[in-house]
Amino acid sequence: ELPNGESHDAKQRQLDNYRVNNFGTQMTTNQSVKVSGDEQSLKAGVRGPTLLEDFHLREKITHFDHERIPERVVHARGYAAHGEFVLHKCMKKYTSAKFLQGAGTKTPLFTRFSNVAGSKGSSDTARDVRGFAVKFYTEEGNYDLVGNNMPVFFIQDAIKFPDLIHATKPEPHNEIPQASTAHDTFWDFVANNQESAHMIMWLMSDRGIPTNFRKMEGFGVHTFRLVNSEGIAHFVKFHWKPKLGMHSLVWDEAQQISGKDPDFQRRDLWENINAGSFPEYDLGVQLIPEDDQFMFDFDILDATKLWPEEIVSVEIIGTMTLNRNVDNVFAETEQVAFHPGNVVPGIDFTNDPLLQGRLFSYLDTQLLRLGGPNFAEIPINRPVCPFHNNQRDGFSRQRIDVGQVSYHKNSLADNTPSTTPADQGGYEHYQEKVEGHVIRAGSPSFDDHFSQARLFWNSMAPYEKQHIIDAFSFEVGKVQSQSVRQQVVDMFCNVDSGLSAAIATAVGVKRPECTPATSEAASPALSMKNTTFVPET
Ligand code: HEM
Repeated sequence: ELPNGESHDAKQRQLDNYRVNNFGTQMTTNQSVKVSGDEQSLKAGVRGPTLLEDFHLREKITHFDHERIPERVVHARGYAAHGEFVLHKCMKKYTSAKFLQGAGTKTPLFTRFSNVAGSKGSSDTARDVRGFAVKFYTEEGNYDLVGNNMPVFFIQDAIKFPDLIHATKPEPHNEIPQASTAHDTFWDFVANNQESAHMIMWLMSDRGIPTNFRKMEGFGVHTFRLVNSEGIAHFVKFHWKPKLGMHSLVWDEAQQISGKDPDFQRRDLWENINAGSFPEYDLGVQLIPEDDQFMFDFDILDATKLWPEEIVSVEIIGTMTLNRNVDNVFAETEQVAFHPGNVVPGIDFTNDPLLQGRLFSYLDTQLLRLGGPNFAEIPINRPVCPFHNNQRDGFSRQRIDVGQVSYHKNSLADNTPSTTPADQGGYEHYQEKVEGHVIRAGSPSFDDHFSQARLFWNSMAPYEKQHIIDAFSFEVGKVQSQSVRQQVVDMFCNVDSGLSAAIATAVGVKRPECTPATSEAASPALSMKNTTFVPET
């Protein structure tokens, strides 16, 4: 039971109110008029023209004509399931978020896995980043952890996101290739935006072709903040670790499966949940006290950097179990609206400039994709606690707001929605001190693009290194422009001279002289401070 008396499947019970079963019913129009025939349209004579007054025909065809909504601008191909999160370690010391208080607390949730680049109908096993988005229906409102299966990202500033995606999606002049990064514009972007180096190493590794969603890790990527009831903050990174361990395909398998069963990964999730073999993922956190933010040789606000686990350990605090498939993919998986800006008291943002841009983008795109400002009323998006405010009207408004007054403050009604002080559960933004000049520039602390890419390469076993070389060779080998091939090979000299030379040979461009010989270059020092995590059980 949740403290407010709701049981942990409060979300499922809420959804039950919207489920409609048509079996055994009489067919009607949307005005509930019974339909006498559904195979012939109304005509003037059996061989005559169809009559405009056939309201059943018009309604049926019109509705069909309007069945499609825009697919997501990224992460269009996805698959989702319901589940629950059980907290194992009380996080009171770090956050006031209610769903993270008291070991054993259960929270219903909905998780959508996705491919970033491919369209809605693309193939599951393409080499791509996978989305890992979780909506927790907490008693304080919805909290969305909108992550990926890799801990870093291609770019550091949100202003480049449209450029990254334009370069990654099929090329505009011929709409080729579908769901693949093996083309000129993608690699041209990489070579000319070299902050992408670390993410490219992950993408070219076996992480880019996970076996299925049950055996895939997830990462919040950005540095967020946890804030406790005294207003003390810690920086935090979130991790999902699958109980089944992490598994990847090899490229030949991925390609063959793509031909034989493009639905391979969604089928796996659907069938396992239906069979009662529920996927489980532990939630882990890395925590850095507010005062320690400058103790590292990378900037903790830079989304192209991870926090090495040798320095800041990952502590497991709870487990997510996915235990129910959806009833209807459109109603739930397609209409769900995740947003990194959906936070609850005790969880806050940081100045990571990639995160800051995301905070704008998701609501903006959903206003278009889900047809206006009322998509929070769509069943899958509704919080389990009711929402109240003075927002009114708009396309497809479902609720009937009663009362004369729809503004704050007023003297005509004494029962309009009131605000809640922070100490009683009202969301209060962390009072970070901020100062600076208005400037369109990046921080020099974001300038090192290669140390962690090299760390990643150096941590690979020989067969993993070979897979990375093979992936680069395949992908860059599809690039038409010799100049772009050469630029990519030159760029990865900064990671490892052997890697760069192997790609150069495979794609037929000059082997660059790497200075210094990066295969001997040291990995970044791992001598930073060890932070201590003290969960309360
Ligand atoms: C989906 C924007 C970076 C994870 C989306 C969508 C947009 C978007 C517009 C479509 C949302 C919808 O239609 O409902 C951006 C921008 C980014 C960015 C502007 C950078 C500035 C990231 C990063 C991650 C991420 C770094 C991972 C941490 C996701 C996921 C989805 C998504 C998982 C799919 C959510 C779902 O399953 O519905 N993003 N994104 N994005 N994004 Fe991002």
